[in-house]
Amino acid sequence: MEKILEKVLRRVKPKKLDRERLKKVADGLVKRADDACSELGVEARAMLVGSAARRTWLRDERDIDIFILFPENLPREELERKGLEVAGKVAGRRGREQFAEHPYVTMKFKGFDIDLVPCYDISDPSKIQSAVDRSPHHQRYVEARLTPELTDEVLLLKQFLTGIGAYGAELQVQGFSGYLAELLTLNYGSFRGVVGAASTWEPGVVLDLRGKYPDLEEARALFTGQPLTVIDPVDPNRNVAAAVSMQNFATFVRACQSFLNNPGERFFFPKPVKLLTSRQMSWVLKQRGTTLFCIVFDRPDLVPDITYPQLRKTERALVTKLTRAGFWVLRSDVWSNGKALLLLELSIAELPRVRAHPGPPVTVKAEDFISKHLRSKHKLAGPFIDEAGRLTFEVEREHARGREILEKALEERTAFGKHVAKSLAKGYKIYDGQRVLALARRNKGIRRFLSGYLTRCLPWHR
Ligand code: UTP
Ligand code: MN
Repeated sequence: MEKILEKVLRRVKPKKLDRERLKKVADGLVKRADDACSELGVEARAMLVGSAARRTWLRDERDIDIFILFPENLPREELERKGLEVAGKVAGRRGREQFAEHPYVTMKFKGFDIDLVPCYDISDPSKIQSAVDRSPHHQRYVEARLTPELTDEVLLLKQFLTGIGAYGAELQVQGFSGYLAELLTLNYGSFRGVVGAASTWEPGVVLDLRGKYPDLEEARALFTGQPLTVIDPVDPNRNVAAAVSMQNFATFVRACQSFLNNPGERFFFPKPVKLLTSRQMSWVLKQRGTTLFCIVFDRPDLVPDITYPQLRKTERALVTKLTRAGFWVLRSDVWSNGKALLLLELSIAELPRVRAHPGPPVTVKAEDFISKHLRSKHKLAGPFIDEAGRLTFEVEREHARGREILEKALEERTAFGKHVAKSLAKGYKIYDGQRVLALARRNKGIRRFLSGYLTRCLPWHR
């Protein structure tokens, strides 16, 4: 294992030159931000945070986080206005305003992705006003504890998480953030330590680095339902692992088990998803024997952190509708890039015309139920009593084809994500079965997505 880790580290650890380049750019920007503050007469100062400040960035990563700290008594609107003013002055025409929980500015600069984030300089981090106010505290906490040796261990863990597809707390991934990787490393002392411990994790693990909760049950009750809870050392009310989904939790635990059992570079650098040709895709579809529906529409003009949850919500609504109508959804997924896409894979395309329609139990009068259905032209058999003792008719199903259910649901759009519903209202197209091939041929992104979907497999097993 030692050899493997050494090799991985050589690939992901920034070289002296990389570090110098980043430092030059970061220092320059911090200075420009400080200058902008004085020029604009704004009482604030810039601070480099995140992986760039802690040397925990991976070599091909190009992300610099600069926070602009304002006094905590400044009203919120002022912070937002002045914050954007300062950030705007630093970024100039390259800057793009973004709106997350509160506004910030991003820009591309000398090959780096820069975030300029206004926040409050709060002395007691349990009294923060917005999530970004914690970052300067994270910075101080980690900076004071990460030794150069530990930094290497963090890099290994971050690359491992990246390789298995579980790195990133954004809603599109719902995985492990960089800060979480740093805390896990601090807690277990090394990459191996983390992997060894995590290989025996069960859902409901609680880690409390600073012993903020004398009774862990208390923490467990507070963060109930979360597969992983890591109490934020700077704010005991915050679970640093709140974003980690059950899927990513289990993926990580399995990856750790498999790695210990049979270590290899494939965990850190898995083979990419194989792009299927049209012929291969056609063959795979035939082999699966399912019915695939691909709903394509214009992507709502929003950041991924808003689009993805809405797409997921819409996906759930469609799956529920189909399931209630008697269909079995084998798997489903969503995707968005230039276009948005909802994918649903049904075990069967069409149900038989007949369906059972049970009536009231024996303790409840049934005359109305019986007469109504006896007269109905949709009645195929009944009334009779089934084995469970329920009065039953067999009637004609209203929609026997999955596609009809889908079309109806797409017209009603109940329980859909709001902006997704709006986009769908403007128009969409359903591609089914082999017709998705045409779609994949036209759009490389969709081809990659469909290839990944049809050959789904844990990255280290590819
Ligand atoms: P980043 O997402 O840029 O993380 O957030 P990072 O630590 O710099 O890691 P990479 O290498 O870019 O992926 C910057 C800071 O915001 C806070 C942390 O303090 C982090 O260092 N943060 C971000 C969180 O606390 N939780 C999150 O989910 C994301
Ligand atoms: Mn970062």
